[in-house]
Amino acid sequence: MQSQSTPSVTTVLGIETSCDETGVALYRHGDGIVAQAVHTQLDHAKYGGVVPELASRDHVRKLAPMIRQVLDEAGCRPAAIDAVAYTAGPGLAGALLVGSAVAEGYARGIGRPTIAVHHMEGHLLSPMLEPDPPDFPFVALLVSGGHTMLIEVRAPGAYRLLGETLDDAAGEAFDKTARLLGLGYPGGPEVARLAEQGNAERFDFPRPMTDRPGLDFSFSGLKTHTRLLIQREAGDPQTRADIAAGFERAVVDTLVIKCRRALKQTRLDRLIVAGGVSANRRLRQALDAKLAGRVYYPPLALCTDNGAMIALAGWYRRAEAGQAGKVAVRPRWPLDELPPLTEAAPA
Ligand code: KG4
Ligand code: ZN
Repeated sequence: MQSQSTPSVTTVLGIETSCDETGVALYRHGDGIVAQAVHTQLDHAKYGGVVPELASRDHVRKLAPMIRQVLDEAGCRPAAIDAVAYTAGPGLAGALLVGSAVAEGYARGIGRPTIAVHHMEGHLLSPMLEPDPPDFPFVALLVSGGHTMLIEVRAPGAYRLLGETLDDAAGEAFDKTARLLGLGYPGGPEVARLAEQGNAERFDFPRPMTDRPGLDFSFSGLKTHTRLLIQREAGDPQTRADIAAGFERAVVDTLVIKCRRALKQTRLDRLIVAGGVSANRRLRQALDAKLAGRVYYPPLALCTDNGAMIALAGWYRRAEAGQAGKVAVRPRWPLDELPPLTEAAPA
């Protein structure tokens, strides 16, 4: 990648297409997110999960009009964009390729460089878009549909993986439980809604891997437990709500226990929680109760996938901006393989 002089990158167009959300946003350093648009693909609902080919085709349809819409809303001419950032991985290969091709082509058309962004670094940095962002260092809990990770974050770009899931991600467990309960996709918000009418105490649920040391997670046993419970108790709407509430409480308790353990182990003070599951109200309540004033989240609208976090991460990685034109993605891309940031970025 060709390195460019960095101080000139102030305005970044961000493009997210790693899964089933098309996200476009314009970030201007000093002003924050100037305009953004997210399109959530709903066609997947009837299949109970994301269909990769449908996702790619929808990104193709939506991206160009969304870029126009965001620039119009921001009152920004293409020439005022300094760099185009896009999600290069991890994610669905076809979906990523659409974002990469559009970003590379668009950037080349306006004569600007591109920045390949790691999707999880986007989530990780998203709490920095809040008016009162956390100072570094902190522990990050990233909980999405594809990942559950605890990370020690010393500075932007300085990441050490502390623990991760050995099987299902937390969001995935929500999605699968929703399916078992006959709810729609994505399952997290649906399970949370049903849980509001439920009694979390009625059934016993395991808190996986909390009784032994370590910071890894496992949610597949909890999922099996829930499946057997649903089969055994089947039933009436109240029972389903009680199961949803018990399941949600078990996931929340497990995450809270591991976060506190990670803070203790690293001797760090602050926690950030990001990714789709960080929108969960009960998770936020439980963490706020235990870690009052020391826990930070992205704005609610930016918990699930969006272009704003990609534009922001692109700005942090502006030193890596390279000549546009090369379409390349990394569907599998471990976060700790990211190069350190070459300069400390001001908040
Ligand atoms: O970060 P995200 O949009 O996509 C990935 O990178 O995977 O996360 C999506 C996940 C889905 O599994 C969805 O069910 C879950 O986040 N989710 C929630 C809530 N909102 C979204 N899980 C629990 N409670 C919620 N309120
Ligand atoms: Zn995500």
